[in-house]
Amino acid sequence: MSIPAQNLTDAYARAGGSFYAYDLDAMGAHLSSLKAEGLRLWYACKANPLSAVLECVKESGFSFDVASLGELEQVLKIGADPKRILLTGPVKSDAFLLRAFAAGTEWFVAESHAQLHRLEKYAAAAGRPVNILLRLQLDWDSGAKSVLGGNKITAFGLGVEDWGNLPALAHLRYRGVHVFQWGNVLSAATLGEVWKRIAEVARQYSDAQGFALDVLDLGGGIGISYEEPGGMLEWESLLEPLAEARRVAGAGELWMELGRYAVGPFGTYVTKVMEKKNVRGESFLLCNGGSQHMVRPALVKESFPCRNLNSARSRPAKKFHVHGPLCTALDCLGSFSLPEDSAEEDLLAFSQCGAYGFTESMPYFLCHELAGEWAWQNGNWRELRKVEAAGSWLR
Ligand SMILES: Cc1ncc(COP(=O)(O)O)c(C=O)c1O
Repeated sequence: MSIPAQNLTDAYARAGGSFYAYDLDAMGAHLSSLKAEGLRLWYACKANPLSAVLECVKESGFSFDVASLGELEQVLKIGADPKRILLTGPVKSDAFLLRAFAAGTEWFVAESHAQLHRLEKYAAAAGRPVNILLRLQLDWDSGAKSVLGGNKITAFGLGVEDWGNLPALAHLRYRGVHVFQWGNVLSAATLGEVWKRIAEVARQYSDAQGFALDVLDLGGGIGISYEEPGGMLEWESLLEPLAEARRVAGAGELWMELGRYAVGPFGTYVTKVMEKKNVRGESFLLCNGGSQHMVRPALVKESFPCRNLNSARSRPAKKFHVHGPLCTALDCLGSFSLPEDSAEEDLLAFSQCGAYGFTESMPYFLCHELAGEWAWQNGNWRELRKVEAAGSWLR
């Protein structure tokens, strides 16, 4: 993320409140560099469905993974080819499926036998076959913890008890397997082990069920650092593990749906310190932005890296607890080492917020304003969303 601090400060003044900034030049350069033999990349829109981000992703050659009607409408709006839209998600509403079939989408990840039967119904009504990837939930302890459950029992995909007896349905073409249980993994070796295990299982499963493994979809899971601004796994370190997974699976193509790794490092959230106080020996900075704009720190107890944009602050660092304006102790953005003389009116910038930021928030609680969204491109700002007062959405 290379937007100069002074430009972030200027944009805060122009936005008139807390905002997200996206460095679209750096994002586009990163996305265009992600290539590997036999690998097709999809963008997991849940990470950040902003249309300027989707356009950048599309220009970089990615296809789209959508998990809701809203995400589907958003990618159709920017002109995505329906043949390059993959439907995922543990629950697919009727409205979502109806719209997808009407738009002409052809690829679906099925997470249960019930979904297979519903997909057959819609495909029959549309009078055309569709391609299915079966999402399997592995019972395998990789030793790695994960926000997506890892080896925990979750509601995602087909549990082992449902792996057998795939129904032969006239309009469904079983084309591959999807497995994704380990998220934000920061070690290429760990990802290599996870992918190899997935590849073995997918191979055995497709053989047992009698379909060719045209596609092995490994989901997302490539990690970025929440300690170091800009930190992420080296793409080159993943080429060998990806090739090995494809070889072990004997799959025609590997697919991945990237969210965090695709856009996470290219977003920054900026908010203002309103108050500084000490309570029983602990120091606090209270900001006008908090969990209403960015709930991930409260949800997963992992902060985004934070720095003070005020260049005049240079005293030794000291630990501050940074809180937002909500009337709950949960509204904590983290505890950070910041200049000791950090003060009211200073702006704090949180990096690595390009994924699971703006839309992973709880904007309505307490009726504060919504955060703005700004794009940085060719050294210029574009205001994509104004800071919006609660009066615009309160009914
Ligand atoms: C099915 C699926 N694919 C892809 C992703 C994106 O994962 P990541 O952000 O780790 O790349 C997710 C995230 O939850 C997901 O549920």
